[in-house]
Amino acid sequence: MKMWSGRFSQGPNAEFEQWQRSFPFDRVLLPYEVAASKAHAAALATAGVLNHDELATTLFALDQIGREELPAADDPAIEDVHHYVETRLVELAGEVGYKLHTGRSRNEQVATDLRLYVREQIDTVCQLLIDLVGEFVKQAEAAGTNAMPAYTHLQRAEPVLVAHWLLAYVEMFVRDLDRLNDCRGRVNVCPLGSGAVAGTILPLDRAAIAQELGFAVPTANSMDATSDRDFAIEFVQALSLVGLHLSRWAEEFILFSTTEFGLVKLPEEFSTGSSAMPQKKNPDALELIRGKAGKVFADATALFIGVKGLPLAYNKDLQETQQPVLAAAQQVASMVRVATGFMTAVEFNYGRMEQAASCGFMNAQAAAAYLVRQGIPFRRAHELIGKAVRLCVEQSCELEQLSKDDYALCGIDAGEQFYNALTLNAVLALHNVQGGTAAVRVREALQTTKERLSPYVGVAHACT
Ligand code: ARG
Repeated sequence: MKMWSGRFSQGPNAEFEQWQRSFPFDRVLLPYEVAASKAHAAALATAGVLNHDELATTLFALDQIGREELPAADDPAIEDVHHYVETRLVELAGEVGYKLHTGRSRNEQVATDLRLYVREQIDTVCQLLIDLVGEFVKQAEAAGTNAMPAYTHLQRAEPVLVAHWLLAYVEMFVRDLDRLNDCRGRVNVCPLGSGAVAGTILPLDRAAIAQELGFAVPTANSMDATSDRDFAIEFVQALSLVGLHLSRWAEEFILFSTTEFGLVKLPEEFSTGSSAMPQKKNPDALELIRGKAGKVFADATALFIGVKGLPLAYNKDLQETQQPVLAAAQQVASMVRVATGFMTAVEFNYGRMEQAASCGFMNAQAAAAYLVRQGIPFRRAHELIGKAVRLCVEQSCELEQLSKDDYALCGIDAGEQFYNALTLNAVLALHNVQGGTAAVRVREALQTTKERLSPYVGVAHACT
């Protein structure tokens, strides 16, 4: 039986009826619909609408509905997940099933189900991000004091520790964790009791309903609660940034795995071959992560556009907000899982990294810094070392290979200390500042990263 046929003298157009159904996608909300229905049933009993036996029968049947296999998505008789649960409840429990909708509306139900879904997905994605960060930290620890070039404008700039480079990504993912956790606070409020738009018609204990579902508090305004999707938009925006970070990471690893760079060794388990070129090992996992990130941004945009023109309160357009949320959550979770697997398996070509870090004049700034320590103003020192670099380019050599006499020609008094200041280790050690790449600072950063993660470890799935 339809949930709304009484006032109609004829049924809907057949194509329209099928076309407006949300059951093909909102069926994944079943566990939350069942949980929210149980909380509402308990509140109905407290309000005297269901007696003790009716409540027991209703809860028993709802539990069974939660365990049963769902009917096919294309079952034409089912409009949406709310309709399904009521229909099945009546089949299992009889006439009492028709009492469950007393004092509630699908408008508040779908808002509640989506919040429960998003809350759970936040916990899942946070746990996955913690696992991903764990792999970055492991690789950073394993990298020890190995060095590599850091690039600006994609040109060699200064040497850094490999661990420092990996920890840069950790920063992005820790910000993602913070953002999702912050968003969770605004997700975790309970719309039940808001009714269709003006608040329920029964004196329901909204605080008790909220508590039963693990929500912090009931929502404050029924019109906002039934039409608000900010929480979903925020969530998908936060996921978009996870996608953006993964995409930047994927792009850099693709680049670094090319023969031209040769810094990253592609793990076979996350690569595929070519049907035509027998020699190929392609970075498909990374490329797909980069490609799929765009779809998450599309979901975020779809949500913005879907909601921007809606007057208060519920409008059926809101049904269209579900698929982008579901798709983005599943997409990002799978992207993070693949990235974690990749980071576990990836190996670095430390020899080549070190070789690349040791040439290309990446010690030029350190050379200027040495002259500054001798009392030469930085701009002058910059100019002098620049001249030395020009000489090196002419002679096809590195700064440390220029002779004392060459340096004298450039106006530089190069003693043993000067040459010592040009070694890779000296250049790295020079960046001894919080957030810098000196080994002692990177060790510190590794330690504080673990401390910064500890509030999140074990918090996920706490359900509050
Ligand atoms: N399937 C609907 C949705 O997802 C449920 C709410 C229907 N409300 C209504 N007033 N028709 O939005």
